[in-house]
Amino acid sequence: MQRRILTGDRPTGPLHLGHYVGSLKNRVALQDEYDTYILIADIQALTDNFEHPEMLEANIMEVALDYLAVGLDPNKVKFVVQSMVPELTELTIYFMNLVTTATLERNPTLKAEIQQKNFTKGLPVGFYTYPISQAADITIFKAHLVPVGEDQLPMIEQTREIVRRFNRLYDKVLIEPKAMVGEVARLPGTDGGAKMSKTLGNCINLGDPPEMVRKRVMSMFTDPTRIHPTDPGHVEGNPVFTYHDVFNPDKAEVEELKDRYRKGTVGDVEVKERLYKALTEFLAPIRARRVELAASPDDVRDIIREGTRKGRALAQQTMDEVRAAMKLRYALG
Ligand code: TRP
Repeated sequence: MQRRILTGDRPTGPLHLGHYVGSLKNRVALQDEYDTYILIADIQALTDNFEHPEMLEANIMEVALDYLAVGLDPNKVKFVVQSMVPELTELTIYFMNLVTTATLERNPTLKAEIQQKNFTKGLPVGFYTYPISQAADITIFKAHLVPVGEDQLPMIEQTREIVRRFNRLYDKVLIEPKAMVGEVARLPGTDGGAKMSKTLGNCINLGDPPEMVRKRVMSMFTDPTRIHPTDPGHVEGNPVFTYHDVFNPDKAEVEELKDRYRKGTVGDVEVKERLYKALTEFLAPIRARRVELAASPDDVRDIIREGTRKGRALAQQTMDEVRAAMKLRYALG
């Protein structure tokens, strides 16, 4: 049997370069080898956007456009809308019995998000428990592999714990998944912050026009200890060079720039100009495909509808097995 991938994104806006290096690149590379399902996680997006449900529909389209634009092939990959698979909600409720509050409290990603979102005063239960819902996402599709950004590793670990408990308690129905992180596990934000994040406004989106890419690159954080272009500068930990390493295919140019930067014989502006060029060359075909696809929204909707139909069929099959394992198939129907 072909091995399976499940991964997903919250449809809160278009995807950015951080998503690409952390996960999208792996998904594209593995789509021939794995039976791939990608969840557009609108229920999870609601957990911190419940006051703005009206933004989800447009963003489901944005995310699907990004998937197609980076080269995910809809003949192979299924895009599944989370809220259109109600079985996920049922499985989440069953999983809630298998997780303690202490385990949730230890989840470092959840902790960081609670801080960042200012939920320190009142933490909605929906947000607090989203790692459990994410475990349902992964296991209902019986995924073996979950390509994700580094920040998602605690979610996969939580999922593995739930699977072990479920299989031991009830019956061996679920698969213990493995995470897979991109070669570049985490891309810093353009402000030098730990990661790209929409709420921090330090992203370059996959569909950004060149003017926007230019604006972001030219205002990028570099080496704070360097005042003049003739000062010797630091390359390590300098986000402009991190981006060069990832997106500039001309390795000789990158080495030359690093060398001159260390010696103080190149200014930030030149290093950024070269990065701008590399980034726009990388993004141009993605953006072109995105613009073309955006002109046929009905085709994109058909792709999502079909993926969701296949995803739901698989989820229903797993839930039959889950209910049987849990002795919930009563002779009452
Ligand atoms: N939590 C993921 C994110 O914020 C999105 C997501 C939802 C996900 N369900 C998933 C990722 C299942 C992997 C597997 O990006």
